[in-house]
Amino acid sequence: MTGNSSVSPRDELPVRDELRGKSPYGAPQLDVPVRLNTNENPYPLPEPLVERITERVREAARGLNRYPDRDAVELRTRLAEYLTRTGGHRVGVENVWAANGSNEVIQQLLQTFGGPGRTAIGFEPSYSMHGLIARGTGTGWLSGPRNEDFTIDLAAAEKAIAEHRPDVVFVTTPNNPTGTAVPPATVTALYDAAQAAKPSMVIVDEAYIEFSHGASLLPLIEGRPNLVVSRTMSKAFGAAGLRLGYLAAHPAVVDAVQLVRLPYHLSAVTQATALAALEHTDTLLKYVEQLKSERDRLVAELRATGYEVTESDANFVQFGRFADAHAVWQRILDRGVLVRDNGVPGWLRVTAGTPEENDAFLDAVRGLKKEQSA
Ligand SMILES: Cc1ncc(COP(=O)(O)O)c(C=O)c1O
Repeated sequence: MTGNSSVSPRDELPVRDELRGKSPYGAPQLDVPVRLNTNENPYPLPEPLVERITERVREAARGLNRYPDRDAVELRTRLAEYLTRTGGHRVGVENVWAANGSNEVIQQLLQTFGGPGRTAIGFEPSYSMHGLIARGTGTGWLSGPRNEDFTIDLAAAEKAIAEHRPDVVFVTTPNNPTGTAVPPATVTALYDAAQAAKPSMVIVDEAYIEFSHGASLLPLIEGRPNLVVSRTMSKAFGAAGLRLGYLAAHPAVVDAVQLVRLPYHLSAVTQATALAALEHTDTLLKYVEQLKSERDRLVAELRATGYEVTESDANFVQFGRFADAHAVWQRILDRGVLVRDNGVPGWLRVTAGTPEENDAFLDAVRGLKKEQSA
């Protein structure tokens, strides 16, 4: 989470005032047997895909003396095909833009539509990078409310939008770290509220949508020129190391982000690797089915063990409640399992791993319950 750290040598430098004393994003990267803390896909890429990546990258390597395709046309065409096939709405290359992870997509959107003198709102707890990227781009950050069950409090959200008239509204569905999905009617109501307050952009962050029980909100871009759906290959495609995110929106949005994107931002190696992964979409999506059933097993087993669990549409589960969540995080870590303390009071988050990893996690948390009742 964002935070105010103790004084660091970097604060001796003439850094921007709004960055002074702040902490960078930093999920712990610890060397422990079971790592279930960053919502990665636990399955390594299948060998035939590794072979195909090697082939495509070898081909790309022969042309590395040249800059890559600045507009990444082939890649955007294949991403548009994937979205059309799975997202319930027909999109073309003109609707799609890609960057180095959806974090960079979000950064480009905030550079374009946020910035100094402008504000963005998110409904927290949510993905902490939205606020951090806002800060990095000089965009003011507003924290909107949620209900006790972590759903968006629509009436309060509409009120906050009317009052603060933000330039950018973030809706994360399924939401990280809670796992909760946002109904389409809530998103359209927030969109209408945002347009009534001032013409502002609504960014629907669908990083985890492939794991959802429900459908993508991609069809909502139709007739809503200020609505953007942001996606990633880091989760469902099992390619967090690739760094490939993308968006779908009205072609004018794709055109607008050209104003801020760095020239040749997406390397030829990245484009080649992503294209290879997209050739293997069907195989990769089979892992998603496995992870969804493991997610459902985690929910059921945690509840059976006596924990509270938030409804999850993602590849992770939020569980609690704890008087001291950080102390519990440490005790689970002592048993060799790394989960995530997102700073949500009373709750921790565990990513769905392989069945063996999930068994190790469940053994750890059952052990804690036994200790408590002993
Ligand atoms: C909601 C959400 N959006 C975006 C991202 C960033 O993903 P990427 O790896 O594409 O930058 C994450 C990563 O955890 C996320 O949880």
